[in-house]
Amino acid sequence: MDIFEAIYNRRSVRQFTPEPVTLEDLIEIIKAGTWAPSGLNNQPWRFVIVQDKNMIAELAKFTKYKKIIDGAAACIVVFVDREAMYNDVKDHQSIGACIQNMLLAVHGLGFGAVWLGEILNNRDGVREKLNLPISMELMAVLAVGRPASGNRKSLRKDVSEVILKKI
Ligand SMILES: Cc1cc2nc3c(=O)[nH]c(=O)nc-3n(C[C@H](O)[C@H](O)[C@H](O)COP(=O)(O)O)c2cc1C
Repeated sequence: MDIFEAIYNRRSVRQFTPEPVTLEDLIEIIKAGTWAPSGLNNQPWRFVIVQDKNMIAELAKFTKYKKIIDGAAACIVVFVDREAMYNDVKDHQSIGACIQNMLLAVHGLGFGAVWLGEILNNRDGVREKLNLPISMELMAVLAVGRPASGNRKSLRKDVSEVILKKI
């Protein structure tokens, strides 16, 4: 897939078919995430793959976007390892790059996903449910699946609105 095709045509997918996503595909998606740049090549990201339906339902309880998670074939739960961090801003930026790589990989494989951030309001609950130490700080949950049919539109500011200066 052409890089610009991937960037411009990726959309957040919030409704999925019941078709499963294989563990192999989920690992490929995470691998693409780990090829994101990170400050000092620190790679502070950590992941939990959730395919178990009961655990997906448990995760869903931690967000007002419950329906999205409930309908997903799988979730990739993204953490930053606070014990592996060297710089707060830069390590968090690296996680963002990692997540975007994963979203593009999802799109490239013909799946769909949405980056869920609202669930961070319950970050400790999610971490405890997954039985992880306090050093694992929740960054996002990606709900993943085969996109249900439907038009997905998204808008952006014109690029001229966000370029501050041309010098
Ligand atoms: C940091 C962050 C947090 C987000 N949290 C949520 C969320 O909790 N629920 C949701 O439905 N979408 C969430 N999104 C997806 C955005 O709503 C979506 O990316 C945006 O509306 C643009 O749409 P597009 O991804 O289809 O281009 C989040 C995106 C980002 C980057």
